[in-house]
Amino acid sequence: MTIRMVSQLLSVAMLLWMGGGGIAQAEQEHSLNLPPESIAQWYKPQNKRQVWLHTMFTLRRSMQAIEEYAALEDGERLDKWSAKFLTQYRSIAEMVPQWADEVEPQWADRLEQAVTKRQWSEVSTALGKLGMTCRSCHQDYRAVTAALYRAPKFDQVVVEDSETLEEVSFKDAMNSVTHSMNGFKIAVDDQRLEAAADHLQRFAQRMRDLGSSCASCHKDEITKSRILGADTTALFDELSEKLQGDRQGIGRKLGELGVVVCARCHGVHRTLSDLTGLLR
Ligand code: HEC
Ligand code: HEC
Ligand code: HEC
Repeated sequence: MTIRMVSQLLSVAMLLWMGGGGIAQAEQEHSLNLPPESIAQWYKPQNKRQVWLHTMFTLRRSMQAIEEYAALEDGERLDKWSAKFLTQYRSIAEMVPQWADEVEPQWADRLEQAVTKRQWSEVSTALGKLGMTCRSCHQDYRAVTAALYRAPKFDQVVVEDSETLEEVSFKDAMNSVTHSMNGFKIAVDDQRLEAAADHLQRFAQRMRDLGSSCASCHKDEITKSRILGADTTALFDELSEKLQGDRQGIGRKLGELGVVVCARCHGVHRTLSDLTGLLR
């Protein structure tokens, strides 16, 4: 028996002895690569436009055109689109110098030669090689870059509290909303009806205040009303009626509100905002 086998047996024995708890308790880690900070100059607010993203769209579009015109052996149109493609592809290393290793300038040169010489199958070989550089950079950086530079930033949004007339952070507004929602639920459970009515009124008001913050990013009314529109107002009215009536089904209504208002918006905005916060 070699030393390695002995040590393997020992570790298996250890695991069995620990009842497998060693595995269950081991924390899983996953590390992410962050894009170089120099990419910020190609995004808002440093730039007027989302230049990086538009460069990318041009790359994909011109790649498709190159493929099509190489297949059709249409040299004139191929010249036009390959020139467009090459300019953008070669600009990657200039835009973000730290990413120079992510691109293959020699395959860009090969593409250029094949286009000039009308070597149709060479064009497609070179395009295939270049396509691999797109995929590998995307695997490492695409999602993280989009989250860092294009996700809405809620830490810069304020909500006006109509009771105190103060502007509070979005996070504080969320905590106030949660506080009055749970205050209502607790008071109903314990049959403190006046307190419940107070909490409900404040809860509804805080949701209206929250609704006025959507406009800082959403210019259209529709987006807001999908989550904080007439349906939500109706839910609050029903809760109020039930509180004054026999109080049957209040819990269910509140649960519905939690799903169609809180969870629906969290699905769009909170998860991404939390993840982006971890990356910053
Ligand atoms: C050096 C890294 C890098 C290389 C090489 C690269 N990309 Fe990208 N690409 C990115 C990053 C980062 C994003 C995310 C940008 C964002 O979402 O704001 C992206 C996003 C995109 C998008 C938009 C996201 C989508 O799928 O809708 C397209 C299209 C795209 N790239 C095409 C290409 C093509 C085609 C190539 C190769 C010819 C390429 N890219 C090469 C880094 C790279
Ligand atoms: C910091 C900016 C920002 C704020 C504040 C904001 N949103 Fe958004 N929201 C976005 C962006 C960006 C998108 C994705 C693109 C789009 O639809 O405009 C989006 C998408 C959505 C969507 C999915 C698209 C749709 O139209 O259904 C919903 C729903 C939504 N937001 C609801 C809200 C509500 C409700 C509020 C206010 C309580 C709000 N958002 C506040 C930036 C924001
Ligand atoms: C814009 C749509 C939106 C709506 C509607 C919404 N939330 Fe949120 N919520 C968010 C976002 C975005 C965050 C993350 C904010 C941050 O960390 O800056 C958040 C965070 C929270 C947090 C964590 C706060 C903290 O201290 O980290 C709680 C709790 C919360 N929401 C409860 C609720 C409840 C309860 C409702 C419904 C009554 C609700 N939210 C409705 C978007 C929304």
